[in-house]
Amino acid sequence: IPVAPFDLIVFGGTGDLARRKIIPALFRRYLAGQFEDGTRLIGAARAGLSPVEYRLFAKEALKEFSAEYDENSEGLEDFLNLLDYVPIDATGDDGWEELKTKTSTDRVQAFYFSVAPSLFGALAERLNSYEIAGSQARVVVEKPFGRDQETARALNATLAEHFDETQIYRIDHYLGKETVQNLMVLRFGNMMFEPLWNNHYIDHIQITVAETVGVGGRGAYYDKSGAMRDMVQNHLMQLLCLIAMEPPAIYDADALRDEKLKVIRALQPVAPHHIVRGQYEATDTAPGYREDAGNLRSFTESFVAMRCEIANWRWAGVPFYLRTGKKLRARTSEISIIFKALGHSIFEGDTTPHRNILSIRLQPNEGIDMTVTVKEPGPGGMRLIDVPLDLTFAEALREADAPEAYERLIMDVIRGNQTLFMRGDEVEAAWGWTDPIIEGWEARHDVPKQYVPGSSGPEDALMLLHRDGRRWRDIK
Ligand code: BG6
Repeated sequence: IPVAPFDLIVFGGTGDLARRKIIPALFRRYLAGQFEDGTRLIGAARAGLSPVEYRLFAKEALKEFSAEYDENSEGLEDFLNLLDYVPIDATGDDGWEELKTKTSTDRVQAFYFSVAPSLFGALAERLNSYEIAGSQARVVVEKPFGRDQETARALNATLAEHFDETQIYRIDHYLGKETVQNLMVLRFGNMMFEPLWNNHYIDHIQITVAETVGVGGRGAYYDKSGAMRDMVQNHLMQLLCLIAMEPPAIYDADALRDEKLKVIRALQPVAPHHIVRGQYEATDTAPGYREDAGNLRSFTESFVAMRCEIANWRWAGVPFYLRTGKKLRARTSEISIIFKALGHSIFEGDTTPHRNILSIRLQPNEGIDMTVTVKEPGPGGMRLIDVPLDLTFAEALREADAPEAYERLIMDVIRGNQTLFMRGDEVEAAWGWTDPIIEGWEARHDVPKQYVPGSSGPEDALMLLHRDGRRWRDIK
């Protein structure tokens, strides 16, 4: 469905995120026919480029990062012609008057701050002092949203000086993933799951976000952040919230975010022996984390596994095991709900504790599978086996062409729908939970365990579950 003409201004328009994600996402939405005539897409950055040079930059970005790129297509040319560019000094005065002439205050204006958080204040301030932002202005900010609760609070306060919370869109791109949204529909659009969704029937929950890439190329950023800040505080926490939250009365931004916030507040502090940190080691052929990070004495973790607890009626006694890391065996993100084993089997000789497992795969091969126990075919009596009921979305729903996270999120900004964005208090609360963990590591000079690239992380991570008589699902 086309949206009324709008202005999108990308500060940091020549940056990596613009190249990899924002420009390709806009191109796809353009090809899908969502932009009406009059829509303006404006890059803004320090570089003194002309609009023509910016179009070349965008063309190169699409060539590298867009599957839809076709050198001779009309669509490509038309899209590139939509792009404009303004060289701008975020902390000075250059460029702001020019930007003002290129956007109008009587329509939706989305200002995408794809820049270092230290510039948020300067940008927000100038958008108002130059009277560039109108009443339908929105700002979009990316992670890292602070590096602890104090800095996140300061960022929120800075933005709040210039914009209302309803105008601020904090991106966590995991919320834009098709399957993540499906998680809510699965829970709240079906009769059969929700009655079982509690500590009476669920034994434990596992959330794994495994990557095969290392940190090479972004070592300088990553070494200051580590897996906890880079992945757990935001992406894994969001997944955990969606699984654990109470049903909101309606599917609406604040109703949903209120429920997520309650989950974060009910998360218990994590004892040091319930967390394992890891760093991938060097191999004969590939550098290890420390070389990739350019810091041979680094104590930063590229892997973290932890056992979390949510202290409320629904979840008391159900551990949530979270795990994420770089250079692991496979790229796979999965949430698994492991139900309790049957208390008693009526089938003679059947001693296996059969468990139903509901597994939601976020990527790759988005889908859901459910392990159920059935009779093994054949005349051999009542032998039971566990088999998957598999629903791969691409096949079942012909959804292979679903919009990418950034496409959906950018269009939600334009439409003014904050449901899939984090509210300020939510982000602060999430830091409030991770801060003591990180401070503990720093105070103890905690040294991450080494792990072999291509493995499933350090041995100790396996122990985390073994101790509880459980095991991780395979990373495959
Ligand atoms: C980013 C992290 O937010 O998410 C990266 O900074 C990580 O370190 C990426 O690789 C993973 O995203 P996705 O969509 O590829 O799972």
